Amino acid sequence: MNLKPILFSFLIAAGITTTTAQEISVLKSSLVGNRIAEFIPKGFDKNKTPSLILASEPKAKGKLPSDWSLVPEFTFKNEKASAVLNLKGDVSLYGGGEVTGPLLRNGQSIKLWNTDTGAYSVEGGKRLYQTHPWVMGVRADGSAFGIIFDSTWKAELITNSNQIIYNSEGALFRVYIIDRKSPQEVIKGLSELTGTIKLPPRWALGYHQCRFSYDSEKRVMEIADTFREKKIPCDVIWMDIDYMQGYRVFTFDSIRFKNPKVLNDNLHKKGFRAVYMIDPGVKVDKDYAVYNSGTQSDVWVKQNNGEEYHGKVWPGDCAFPDFTSPKTRNWWGGLYKDFLATGIDGVWNDMNEPAVNDNDFSEDKRLGTMPYDTPHKGGGNLPQGSHLLYHNAYGRLMVEASYNGILKANPSKRPFLLTRSNLLGGQRYAATWTGDNYAGWDHLKLSVPMSLTLGLSGQPFNGPDIGGFLGNTDGDLWANWLGFGAFMPFARGHACAGTNDKEPWAYGAEIEKTSRIALERRYRLLPYLYTLFYESSQTGLPVMAPVFFADAQDSRLRAEEQAFLLGENLLVVPAFAKDPILPSGIWEELSLVDGDKQDKYQAKLSIKGGSIIPAGKIIQNAGENSFDPLSLFVCLDKDGKANGELYVDEGDGFGFQKGDYRLVTFSAEKNNNTVLIKTAGIQGKRNIDKEINKINVHLLLNGKTYEGTGTLKDGITITLN
Ligand code: NOJ
Repeated sequence: MNLKPILFSFLIAAGITTTTAQEISVLKSSLVGNRIAEFIPKGFDKNKTPSLILASEPKAKGKLPSDWSLVPEFTFKNEKASAVLNLKGDVSLYGGGEVTGPLLRNGQSIKLWNTDTGAYSVEGGKRLYQTHPWVMGVRADGSAFGIIFDSTWKAELITNSNQIIYNSEGALFRVYIIDRKSPQEVIKGLSELTGTIKLPPRWALGYHQCRFSYDSEKRVMEIADTFREKKIPCDVIWMDIDYMQGYRVFTFDSIRFKNPKVLNDNLHKKGFRAVYMIDPGVKVDKDYAVYNSGTQSDVWVKQNNGEEYHGKVWPGDCAFPDFTSPKTRNWWGGLYKDFLATGIDGVWNDMNEPAVNDNDFSEDKRLGTMPYDTPHKGGGNLPQGSHLLYHNAYGRLMVEASYNGILKANPSKRPFLLTRSNLLGGQRYAATWTGDNYAGWDHLKLSVPMSLTLGLSGQPFNGPDIGGFLGNTDGDLWANWLGFGAFMPFARGHACAGTNDKEPWAYGAEIEKTSRIALERRYRLLPYLYTLFYESSQTGLPVMAPVFFADAQDSRLRAEEQAFLLGENLLVVPAFAKDPILPSGIWEELSLVDGDKQDKYQAKLSIKGGSIIPAGKIIQNAGENSFDPLSLFVCLDKDGKANGELYVDEGDGFGFQKGDYRLVTFSAEKNNNTVLIKTAGIQGKRNIDKEINKINVHLLLNGKTYEGTGTLKDGITITLN
C-alpha cells in the first residue's frame, strides 16, 4: 500500500506542512536599539532556529515609530521559511559577506551553504566558505538600512532591484532591520547587534608570509632569515599542515618539526611570530591521544544510528567534534594549552565548513561535507538539530571554542585566530581570509570588492591570499597585487603546494625592490592602521571601506570597486585601476617611501582634505619602535583646518582595558600664512611623552609639501611661503 498520500493528508491536517506558500504574519515587532527593529513571525520557535549571529539576546525597548516603513513579509511552504523586503525607489545594495562578483549587489543571488571552493569554482562562485545573511541598502539621499535574517539554515539570498529575498530550507526566523541616516551608522548598528572584532595584537597588522607548506624547521628559518637579510619588513611566518605528524592536529612531525619550542624561540629572537594551522577533523587512530581523549569525552559528531560520523580529510578518516555542545567546545579549547606552550603566537582554523573529501566531484552528487540529516547534540542555549541547521555555524562554533581556549591558555595575550569558515557575527572570534583564490588578474581585481563586502558585513579583519594561492604567479602579477594588498587589513602572501615560490624575493631584483617599497609603506602606516583597528573594535566600522563612504550622496561612487579607502582619510588607488571614480573634494597625493610615487606597481595614496594621518618610521616588525619620530601628514580642508587621531598602547595584552592606552587627537589650523598643528585632546592614562619624542609634520598643500618639527607638548607652527 502506498502510505504517502495518507501521511501527507495527516501532516496537512496537523498543520505540519503546506504545499502552497502560506503568508505568516508578524507576531511581534519592537525597537531593540536606536532605529533597530526586531520582527518575530508567528510560529517562530528558537528551538528550531536558534540565533548564532547575535552577540546577545536583544531586549525590546518600545514600539516602532509610526513612520517606520521597512517591514519584512514572511512566508512558509513545505517546512521552509522565507522573508522578503520590498524596496522603494533607487537603492544600492551591498553585503552578503564573502561573495564573488561586484561590490554593488543589485541583481545578484548567492547560496548560503559554507563550501570548500577552490578558485571559487563551485556553482559558478555562488557559494563560498562563509554565511552572512545580511544586506545593506543605500538610498539616493545617502540614508541607509540593513537587514539581518537571523538564521543558519541552508538558504539563498537574492538581491533584486526592488526586493531582498531570503529563502531558507528551515524553520521561521527573526529579522532585524536597522534604518539610519548613513551607511556608516547602519554598519555601527550591525555591530551593536552582532559585536565587533576584539583589538588584535599589533603584530597581526604586519605582513604575514605563508606557504602550503614551509615543511621543515630549517626552511622556516631560511624564510625568516631572508626577510631580515633583505630588509623586507615581516612579522609572521605561518605553519601549514605539513608541520603535523601525519596531519594529526595538535602534533608535530617528529623529524621535520621535532623542536617546535626551539623553532618558535628562534623566530621570536628575530622579531617574528609563529602561526600554526589546526583543522577540525581528528584522525581516527586508536594510538592518537587527541582521538582517544575525544572519544572518552564523547565529543564526536555521531550519525543517526549512533555510530561516529567519519569523513576523509588530509589524514584519511577523521572524526569531527560536535561544536554545538558546550562540553565539546570546552574540551577543544583545552587542547590549545600544551600546544601553545611551545611558543605558538597565533592559530589558523581551516577546512571548517567542515570540508569533507567524499570523492564524488559531480556537482549534483557531491556533498563535500556531512550528510544533511547528521544530528548535532546542542546544549546550553542550542537545541539538538540537523546538519542542515548547523552546517553554516560549524566554523563559527569552532572558532568560538578555539578563541576561548587560546585566551584561557594565555590570559595575558590577545588571541590571534584566522578562520576560513564563519558566520555573520563571527568577527567576534576570528579574522578571516578569502580562501583559495588563484593567481590570475581576475582574482587580483576581485580581491578588492571581496574584502570590501566582508567589511560591509561586519568583518573588517580580512584579506585575500596576496599573489594568488592556486597556480603559478609571475612577478608582474605579484607586484601589482602586493602594491595594493599592502593596504588591506589582513596582508598575507600564500601559495599552494606545487606552485612556484611566492616570497617577495622570488621574482628577481626589480620585483624584490618593489615588494620592499610596498611593505615599507604598510609599516610606515602601522600607527594609522592600529588606530583604525582600535576604532573598528569600538564601532564595527570597516578598516578598508568603499569610496562611497567618502560621500554617500554622490551616486557616481556607488559601484566603484577598484579604489578603496583605508579608514576615512586615505584613498588607495591600485596600479591596475582604470578610470576609477574618485570622491570629489581636496585629496593630496602622499609619498611614504623614497621612490614610491615613481614605482609603477605601487598604489597611489592620497590624503583627504581636513585630515591628519599619523605614521611611523620604516621598521622591520611591529615590535620595533615606530615613533622616533612620529610623522603627521596634514591636509587642510577648504577652511584651512584638519584633525586626526593616534591610538597607542602596549601592542598586546589587556592593559588598555584598564586605561593603559593613549588616544591623542591632533588638530591643524591655518591663520594667514601659518599653520599650527597641536594636540587637541587626550584620552587614557598611558604616558607616551618618552615614546614619542619628536614629531615631523608634512603638510601637503596644492601639490607642495611643507615640513615642520617639534614635540607633542609644544605644538608645531609651519609657515607657508
Ligand atoms: C586549504 C586552505 O584554504 C589553504 O589555504 C591551505 O593551504 C590548505 N587548505 C592546506 O592546509
